[in-house]
Amino acid sequence: MKLKKTVLTGFAAIIGASALIGSNIASAQSKWPTKPISLIVPFAAGGPTDSVARLIAIPMGKTLGETVVVENVPGAGGTIASAKVARAAPDGYTIYLHHMGMATAQALYDKLPYDPLKDFDYIGQVVDVPMLLLGRKNFPPNNFKELEAYIKANGNKISMANAGPGAVSQLCGLLFQSRLGVRLTNIPYKGTGPALTDLMGGQVDLLCDQTTQTIGVVKDNRVKVYGTTTPKRLSALPNVPTLDQEGLKGFEVKVWHGLYTPKGVPAPILAKLNAALKVALNDPDVKKRLDDSNIDIVSMDKVTPSGLKNHLESEINKWGPVIRKANIPD
Ligand code: MLT
Repeated sequence: MKLKKTVLTGFAAIIGASALIGSNIASAQSKWPTKPISLIVPFAAGGPTDSVARLIAIPMGKTLGETVVVENVPGAGGTIASAKVARAAPDGYTIYLHHMGMATAQALYDKLPYDPLKDFDYIGQVVDVPMLLLGRKNFPPNNFKELEAYIKANGNKISMANAGPGAVSQLCGLLFQSRLGVRLTNIPYKGTGPALTDLMGGQVDLLCDQTTQTIGVVKDNRVKVYGTTTPKRLSALPNVPTLDQEGLKGFEVKVWHGLYTPKGVPAPILAKLNAALKVALNDPDVKKRLDDSNIDIVSMDKVTPSGLKNHLESEINKWGPVIRKANIPD
């Protein structure tokens, strides 16, 4: 009898303690955020991913009532940052902006230290960014046909910058080389911010980069442009042909971006992050600045956890075979 009473008393104490822990967790979640949130970017500052991150960080911070601080963790085509985020505490204070490299890295690396489909929670898709094939200003070819002939004559004497395996600049550059049946000298950087600086300085010959920073430098005549990776010409650069129009039939790279957290963030916090992202993407200033770079905000039904997860899955399935067929090395 005594034993039964002790057991019952202990049981009641456990229930009481877990109710208390439960209410502490609920209260922590309802108070969140109480300190700055770190927005990890997997490439160098001054590049396209960094720019999109800084653009959404300010309005997201305003909505959430705490600063969203951008932290650049560059290297290995974005995979160092992905591994860091996968291991971070799932408390909502670490969020992560990455592009389609989240899907392509699986096919480019033998083994990744994280699983894009198991180690993250999903806040939503963000934007789609076109790319441009660029050359240094004093690079001899003046148009795509001349570029093809020049590449055939000079092969690996030509250098092409990229941001490492997993970066879209690398994917675009190697798909381009594979379509031409050549291998140029590929030079990795920690992001296309520094790669574009070197292209403008004449230290590298070619770069495939997103429109985020490149429309301005094309308009200012600081680099040459040979084509867009889009199915249609861009409204900001109507005289620039698509690579498809130049003969690379079906050549298309649209750089989609998503916002993630480490796996296990409580649902109420994920819902607040998602609401803040939607507010940021509807901000008139953000919209205008993205529009000036021909960047498309995705439709709001895709700015959802399931919208991002489904897209990531379909992109993993899409790019694996394309990368293997193009024989892109890691
Ligand atoms: C960057 O932000 O530097 C780029 O997105 C890198 C890339 O993927 O090419």
